[in-house]
Amino acid sequence: MARYAHITGWGMATPKKVLSNFELEKIVETSNEWIVSRTGIQERRIASEIETPASLAVQAALRALEVANVHPSQVDLIIVATSSPEHIFPATACIVQDQIGAKRAGAFDLSAACTGFIYALEVASSIIRSGAADTIVVIGTETLSRFVDWQDRNTCILFGDGAGAFVLQASEEPGGILAGVLRSDGSGAELLTLPSGAGRYPFGQTIVQNGQPYIRMNGREVFRFATRVMAQSTLEVVQKAKLTLQEVGWIVPHQANQRIIETAAKNLNLPVDKFISNIHRYGNTSTASIPIATCEAIQEGKLKPGDYVVFVGFGAGLTWGATLVRWGGPFTTKRKRIFGRRHRWLSRLRSRFLRWWRRIEGFLWGKNAA
Ligand code: UT7
Repeated sequence: MARYAHITGWGMATPKKVLSNFELEKIVETSNEWIVSRTGIQERRIASEIETPASLAVQAALRALEVANVHPSQVDLIIVATSSPEHIFPATACIVQDQIGAKRAGAFDLSAACTGFIYALEVASSIIRSGAADTIVVIGTETLSRFVDWQDRNTCILFGDGAGAFVLQASEEPGGILAGVLRSDGSGAELLTLPSGAGRYPFGQTIVQNGQPYIRMNGREVFRFATRVMAQSTLEVVQKAKLTLQEVGWIVPHQANQRIIETAAKNLNLPVDKFISNIHRYGNTSTASIPIATCEAIQEGKLKPGDYVVFVGFGAGLTWGATLVRWGGPFTTKRKRIFGRRHRWLSRLRSRFLRWWRRIEGFLWGKNAA
């Protein structure tokens, strides 16, 4: 029997603090008018001291599990795509695994910069189709605001924080993730980089003096690269799924710059309103941008069962790629939506109980250890 990987749950979490362009005008030499006209961004979310990549990921994952009506103990694997992990090690995914109570799940982080969520979807769907796992949580989470040079108007206006998650489940019903394209070109590694704090440039005074703790980007070159590969990988993935562009209902692109999205639409000869965009609210949240945009598109009633949807991304590495999904299927039918609604309060109660129980466990374990 053939196996398919269906997206059965989705969730997002963004920090409360909003940083508007007008507030940025007070930090760096820029203007709301310039940022809106060159990028489409009006505001972004900034993590507070207590919000971290793992804490945002946990919230997004719990919401996605709730939508999928899946208990954390049923999760086989957690993949966290991130460009700003909690630590170099342990993996952010392991912290998420513990905090959501996914007691029998494997967990690892995946690094492919802003294309990370696309890479993670492809890895997860391949694992599900191979039969090695039935339920996988794929998360994109970022607090890139902590790696931005707030004096560099080229980059600090772009990035925002947040997390988004999908639950992928195995089914014999055809549909779900139908095709994927992953590409890279390391010769462009210098175009977009966060060089320090790892093996090549460990933290130290020289790094700080050379300005290496921060994101550095050649904006114009990244822009050129992005517009080329967005159209190219969308076409490739559509052909791989043996479909035509006209059959595609929605494209959910990485939210980096509204002008990149508009150029891709033009290059593909598609109306721009086929492209989901919420960049004006969140800026570029890297690996989280595609799942966050998807969650909001669902809330707005845009994605319907049976729609063909392309997720397409690009980023540092250089990396780029696309995923084609037939939305809906056995888990997003009317029956499931009704079932999901009826059981949502139960699920909330269960999450709350799990949180209390983990606290009690922690307290008892602490006492025993003492
Ligand atoms: O996830 C992937 C990550 N990155 C991207 O996708 C970014 C891709 N690149 C871009 O989105 C654009 O290149 C930027 C938004 C970064 C820059 O826009 P641009 O239209 O390519 O501007 P530019 O770099 O060509 O600069 C044009 C002018 C320059 O002034 P001069 O030299 O012409 O006098 C810049 O100094 O705009 C100036 N400038 C700014 N002015 C006001 C650059 N940034 C700003 C700013 N506010 N924030």
